[in-house]
Parts: sequence; C-alpha cells; structure tokens
Amino acid sequence: MRATITVLAVCLLMAQAPPSPSADDLLARGRASYQAGRYAEAINDLRAAADAILTPAQMQSYVNNGKFESLPAFETAVIYLALSYAKLGRDAEAHEQIQRLMTAETIAPTYATLVLGPDLGDFEGLRNRLAMTSVAPPPPAATAGVRATQTTLTPEQQRGDPDRYRSHRLHVEPDGSFSIIALVWRPGQVTRIHDHLTWCVFGVVQGVEHEELFDEHLNPRGESSNHEGDVSGFAPPGDIHRVRNVGATTAISIHIYGTDVGRVGSSVRRYYDESA
Ligand SMILES: [Fe+2]
Repeated sequence: MRATITVLAVCLLMAQAPPSPSADDLLARGRASYQAGRYAEAINDLRAAADAILTPAQMQSYVNNGKFESLPAFETAVIYLALSYAKLGRDAEAHEQIQRLMTAETIAPTYATLVLGPDLGDFEGLRNRLAMTSVAPPPPAATAGVRATQTTLTPEQQRGDPDRYRSHRLHVEPDGSFSIIALVWRPGQVTRIHDHLTWCVFGVVQGVEHEELFDEHLNPRGESSNHEGDVSGFAPPGDIHRVRNVGATTAISIHIYGTDVGRVGSSVRRYYDESA
C-alpha cells in the first residue's frame, strides 16, 4: 500500500511539473506562431528561446575557445523577434533585435547561412525600413574615423571628472570583435542600472568598484567589491547591474566588450527606470 501511494505521489509530481521546452522547441514554436499571425505568442516563445540559447555556459565557452555553436539558432530567434515586434508596430523593439543580430554577426558571420525561406524577404524589407543598411560588420575603413588613437590615459583623464564618471575608448579591434574601454570614477560616482549587449571582461587597476546585481524586476540579487588587481566578467542575459566607486580615491578599470562600440554606439543594451 505504501509503495502504491509513493508511486502515485511521484506520478502526481510529474504531472504537475511538465518538462520545460528546449530552446529548439521554443524557437520552432515561435516561428510557427509568427507564420500563423500570432505575434504576441511568437514574442513570448522567441524571447525565451533567445534567453535559453544565450546561456552563461555558452558565453563562457565562447570566451574560452572562441566557439559559439548555437549562433545560427540565436540569430534566427532575434530575426523572428524583430519581425514579430514590427508586425505589432513596436519598431523600437524590432530595432533593438536587429542590433542584437548585428552584435552576433561580430562573433562570426552567420546571417548569410541562415535558411529563412520567404521570411528572409520580409526581414530584409524591415531592415531597410528601419534604415539598418548593413547586417554585416562594415569594413575597417568605414569605422576608422571613430577608432581611438590613444592606448593609455592622460594624467588629466586619470584624475577623473568631478561631475560624472568618464569612459575612454582605448582600442577597437579592426574586425569589430571587441573594444577596450577605460572607466574613471571619482569617489561616490555611480552608473544607472543597466545591462549589456555583449560579454565583458574587466579588471580594476586602481581603487575599488562596487557592483550591485538585480533581477529583471530590479530586486537586489547580489553584490561584490572589486579591488585593484581583481579581474572578473559577465555575459548577458542576467547582467542587470549598477557600479559605483565606494573607495576614498579615484577608481580606474579596464573593460573589454565583445563588440565594436564605435559602430553600435555603446555596450549598454538598456537603462532601467530606477524610480519605478
Ligand atoms: Fe555595466
């Protein structure tokens, strides 16, 4: 009798907790919903698919060995996300997804290999309408004008700005695959809450930087202090954070972002409303 009850209990638990769909299933379901005209459903599934594909483990693998096997699936998800948002008139969010695609292309040119069928034409039309004239990274000459020429900070830059923390672009790799940025903070200076388009590895070369992590509802979920000599990193999603100089002296850190910040404008994906 006891064994029967145990079996029943296990069956009940299994019935209550169906296995969550895989990233591939979410992607397939999202594409099907888009093609059936169910754009809100498509957005839900495709966002979940993109998040499931872009795992910290995947990004760590990319940082370690340069391989990003699921890049075609990720790009497919953001393309259908862009299309779905556009169908609902949400052009700003469609544009954001196209920027994610452009960032993904800096990891490895993949877009040209995707099999999108008739939807490819729709996406090309959307991209043109939103004035995204090229998915492929521009040739080096096109961005040469925005590349930083300095490789170190001047003494004045190292002293910081009394009004706000400052960012100095030190290097953009010619193929656009990464950028090196120096951040300089006077005591107490702080960023807004934000997250990023791409992975980041950073090291503190002077002072103390304190990082607070948040969940998507801006609830605190952790904090850490990074001191001179500390090296750390992160990869989206799950990188919503705020950084401040909690030391008594000017802090300086070097950040390497996996994109061409001269082309995409900033490594920041989104700033969050801290008053909400
Ligand atoms: Fe950041």
